[in-house]
Amino acid sequence: MPSAHYQPLELRADDNDEDDLLEEGLLEHCTIETDVQPNGRIRYHPQPVDELRSIGGMTAPRFSRAASSGMRRFLFVTLILLPICFLIYFVISPQSQDSEDADGDVDPHNGIGNTIGIALNEPLHICSERYEDHRLYIDDKPRSAYAQLPVIYFVTPTYPRREQIPELIRLAYTLLHVPRLHWLVANDREGCDNFLDMQLNGFGIPYTHMASPMPREYRKVKPAPRGVANRRAALQWLHQHNLTNGILYFGDDDNTYDLRLFSEIRQTQRVSMFPVGLIAEYAISGPVVRDGKVVAFLDSWVAGRRWPVDMAGFAVSLSYMSQYPNVNMPYKPGYEEDLFLRSIGLRIEQIEPRGKNCTEILVWHTQTKNKKSAVVRLENRFMDERSNLGALFRLLERMGVARASDTEGLLATISKNGKSKTHSYFLN
Ligand code: UGA
Ligand code: MN
Repeated sequence: MPSAHYQPLELRADDNDEDDLLEEGLLEHCTIETDVQPNGRIRYHPQPVDELRSIGGMTAPRFSRAASSGMRRFLFVTLILLPICFLIYFVISPQSQDSEDADGDVDPHNGIGNTIGIALNEPLHICSERYEDHRLYIDDKPRSAYAQLPVIYFVTPTYPRREQIPELIRLAYTLLHVPRLHWLVANDREGCDNFLDMQLNGFGIPYTHMASPMPREYRKVKPAPRGVANRRAALQWLHQHNLTNGILYFGDDDNTYDLRLFSEIRQTQRVSMFPVGLIAEYAISGPVVRDGKVVAFLDSWVAGRRWPVDMAGFAVSLSYMSQYPNVNMPYKPGYEEDLFLRSIGLRIEQIEPRGKNCTEILVWHTQTKNKKSAVVRLENRFMDERSNLGALFRLLERMGVARASDTEGLLATISKNGKSKTHSYFLN
């Protein structure tokens, strides 16, 4: 069975040291082994670092006291090269980025240079993925009828909460109608969610499921940069796969997508833009178009943003994006779209208005009520195969929706003919 060993991702410069990371379990998450299974699905197994060091006889070098003189020379050269690399990275690259903004406008993002500068290097961990499309027909046509279309890389940041699985199921049933789409589902949590693996595999849509948690330091910040670590991880995945063909679209898990959106964004040459319904005070955000050209933006929250658009209001072609190796999405709540679009050197005259010159609404910023996972008081002794309730609550627990408890939560009311009785009356 073929298997590939991926190199661990490099650590961020501000991470302390290997020991700290090992303690936090972060380094292990970065080390991935894959197996191609008979069904074409690729499974990734996180490997303890020590185990990986010796896999397949490829023993990775470890430092020993008896380091050879060659090693010492290597260390010496590295010590000289490292400061030079830092100098190049921190002094030269921000300047080249700034020059893209140099059009005489006042930069409203003063003082946030350091947040822009963190290059993509996320601790993303691939849980499972599948490249084959298992759908036989899409809109009554065989899958082969669409073979010439560019692929849409639909990036969905998502996070564990009671509504997560239902939201993703609803989104999946939209995406099932869309040919030539690869769904990048980036989950904001430490480890893989096996239940989500199973769900995603069941839909038949090509997908990559990755775990890409928000760094701990940002979780404490209010408002937190929601969905940023995940989108950065997806950008990194696209970069690692050297993709220069296809379309990138950021589609949150709770929005509502009209199927016509996909035909529109598939035509993207550089950057497409279109209105998003239900955004903020005007219930709409999007470009103002005159004579087929974007001339300005309508959005109730400008806050100095050059590109005051919603994440769902644009799509980018990968052939265009790949020309900007400094592509980035900083951890700056409210400014993610603006700074991402700046990082790819966008100019207003390049924008392609979609949806009949931005007169249609093809995506809606719907929001779902967020509630804590429920706890229902139901005796453990009844959670067996005598009724459906045991299996039902085990499923709900795997989905993160609810759990049954012997001692906590609201007492479950079980009734017949309008009258509730003791649990043992029905379940014993
Ligand atoms: C609005 C924008 O539409 C988002 O594109 C933007 O990321 C977000 O604001 C923001 O900047 O905070 P909104 O509906 O307010 O979206 O936010 P959510 O839907 O709660 O979150 C956006 C996405 O990030 C969702 O797909 C959500 O599943 C994900 N998310 C949220 C996480 O991955 N982790 C979190 O802790 C919260
Ligand atoms: Mn949302």
